[in-house]
Amino acid sequence: MKQIAILGAGRVGSALAAGLVQAGYRVTVGIRSVENPLPGWTGPEVTFADHASAVRQNPIVINATPGDTSLERLSLLKSELRGKVLIDVSNATRRDATGASMSLLYPDESLGELLQAALPETSVVKTLNTMMFTVMVDPKCLATRPTAFLSGNDEEAKSTVASVLEDLGWPSEWIEDLGDMTSARGAEAMFSVVPFVLRQFGFRPFALTISR
Ligand SMILES: NC(=O)c1ccc[n+]([C@@H]2O[C@H](COP(=O)([O-])OP(=O)(O)OC[C@H]3O[C@@H](n4cnc5c(N)ncnc54)[C@H](OP(=O)(O)O)[C@@H]3O)[C@@H](O)[C@H]2O)c1
Repeated sequence: MKQIAILGAGRVGSALAAGLVQAGYRVTVGIRSVENPLPGWTGPEVTFADHASAVRQNPIVINATPGDTSLERLSLLKSELRGKVLIDVSNATRRDATGASMSLLYPDESLGELLQAALPETSVVKTLNTMMFTVMVDPKCLATRPTAFLSGNDEEAKSTVASVLEDLGWPSEWIEDLGDMTSARGAEAMFSVVPFVLRQFGFRPFALTISR
């Protein structure tokens, strides 16, 4: 059975857990306070664990925690993450006075590059940060085909992640490999338009997409 850990039990974490359980994965969800069942958990049947244990038990780990603190948090898990594939779906953003995420925390680089530099023995792959969480696990819900971008330095890890996406329902031709981890700058910068899309059109599923 395929195994995967998801760090974070919020909107993204629970949606991905549902999609991956449905695709036949054994899912461990990494949470801060280990209670089972988690209060408020609306996702499928999974195992809950602290973050370090969740990482230790699984070959592939998804970061679905807040991007502004992900670098510090994942750096502390450096030894647990050694040799693993880390799928980073987070957006590192600054919050304005109202608490809304309005701008990039790393406008001249990317969280993906910073994570890869901090975790040299982990294969980091950036993906899925350019869409609403509902689309991550139901890409065919939109009227036009969405794009799932991939950025990362390890080609084998990117093909592992592409397989995970295919298991979630992404046709391979909808997955666009943008290149090495420097390309995460592009994928992460796409977040800049998101607050304005939400403000203008409301909380409706969307994905930022390449059309040709
Ligand atoms: N929402 C979207 O549509 C969307 C789309 C693309 C990318 N993203 C990115 O995906 C990530 C998660 O987004 P979300 O919408 O799921 O956020 P969320 O609903 O706020 O959930 C984040 C989860 O992270 C965990 N967490 C928060 N602070 C933490 C800390 N200091 N240490 C450890 N765990 C912590 C919490 O889980 P516990 O308290 O249970 O441990 C929380 O449930 C963010 O980086 C976001 O930018 C979101």
